[in-house]
Amino acid sequence: MLTPNLTVSPDGHLMIGGADTVALAKTHGTPLYVMDENMIRENCRGYGNVIAEEYGGNGLICFASKALSCKELYRIVDSEGLGADVVSGGELYTALKAGMPAEKIVMHGNSKTNTELQMAVTHGVGRIVCDNLPELERLDRIAEKSGRIANIMLRIKPGIDAHTHDFVKTGQIDSKFGFALETGEAMAAVKAASLYPNLHLLGLHCHIGSQILDTEPFAEAGRVMVQFMDKIRDEIGLTLTELNLGGGPGIRYTEEDDPKPFGEIVRAILAAVKESCERADYPKPFILFEPGRSIVGGAGLTLYTVMAKKVIPNIRTYVLIDGGMCDNPRYALYHSRYEAVIANKAAEPRTETVTIGGQCCESGDLIGEDMPLQTAECGDTVAVLATGAYNYSMASHYNRNPNAEMVMVRDGEARTVIRRETYEDIIRCDI
Ligand SMILES: Cc1ncc(COP(=O)(O)O)c(C=O)c1O
Repeated sequence: MLTPNLTVSPDGHLMIGGADTVALAKTHGTPLYVMDENMIRENCRGYGNVIAEEYGGNGLICFASKALSCKELYRIVDSEGLGADVVSGGELYTALKAGMPAEKIVMHGNSKTNTELQMAVTHGVGRIVCDNLPELERLDRIAEKSGRIANIMLRIKPGIDAHTHDFVKTGQIDSKFGFALETGEAMAAVKAASLYPNLHLLGLHCHIGSQILDTEPFAEAGRVMVQFMDKIRDEIGLTLTELNLGGGPGIRYTEEDDPKPFGEIVRAILAAVKESCERADYPKPFILFEPGRSIVGGAGLTLYTVMAKKVIPNIRTYVLIDGGMCDNPRYALYHSRYEAVIANKAAEPRTETVTIGGQCCESGDLIGEDMPLQTAECGDTVAVLATGAYNYSMASHYNRNPNAEMVMVRDGEARTVIRRETYEDIIRCDI
């Protein structure tokens, strides 16, 4: 199986975290997101342990909410000692409502509104990552009016081309996020930021991209960022105390994927940071990481019901399900690949090659093409694997489809953590 938490029961049903997915589909209906709490917790601890072992615990892991934001998840990651990275007022609101301490929150955004900045300042968010000069100006004014000093970091584009999909690359010069190193823009931003009376510049941030499978681009980012911190010290005499290296470790979506384990990646980054600091005689900064996908991606799957099957001779076979791009837009967006299993036939071999199609009025509403699958029949339960990240958080109401329910499984027991939307929910804001 793709991840170690997936097994097959003696009666051939797919199990996740000890729970029978066929029974879950029957009890809760489909589409249904299923998350494995133990695996999420193990991943959180895995990150924490590396920081403790390799860096004396001098850091904070902030779960990247963009991968999955809901109150229960914040409660879980908070209880494991993690903070949260948020990128909108909505994510911030959810995190605060769940009881996540504001000082453990990092606020991102390349185009934050005054309302969002005000919210961050009022609640005393631990770090606001500033993306551009107009934002610095606005934040300084907001902090002044609120009688606060805002702790900030600057988002830097380190000029690293990570080998991943163009849409999820963010560290190169042609990116809408942050200040470029190569052009001198980043140094100018540091100088500007250090002069605002109501802003306290703690350090720098970079995020080179997502679903990155190798260690080297991360280690290189660590080296580049420490070199830049050293250059700042030389040029303006400012010693920054914090370095946030973003998220990005990849996960296994298909049997062919072979990502480096996130522990190895974090070890490589920390080694690069330590070595660069020693070489420059620079004090080792407090380190932050913002993993999302590698904490929740493999811990989730989505269950659907087969509504129809269409065999187009010599062309393809469609298996049509009661969900699709509304719950998982990643194939439509990036042609992301997934593995699927018929949950009630999980012990059988996957002998057919199918296209899984969704319900929306879009030909591109697919979960995947050329997917191996057991022989599907109407009423079967299809499990699409490794959907814990960037599925629910990217869900839409296209065609006025209500958002699906999410259950959290722990030691075989499931509880609803996001209830299924109703048609009344869908028209709630209509006048
Ligand atoms: C600034 C920032 N931090 C963290 C993440 C999380 O990345 P991942 O889910 O790949 O770990 C992202 C994702 O795009 C991001 O933009």
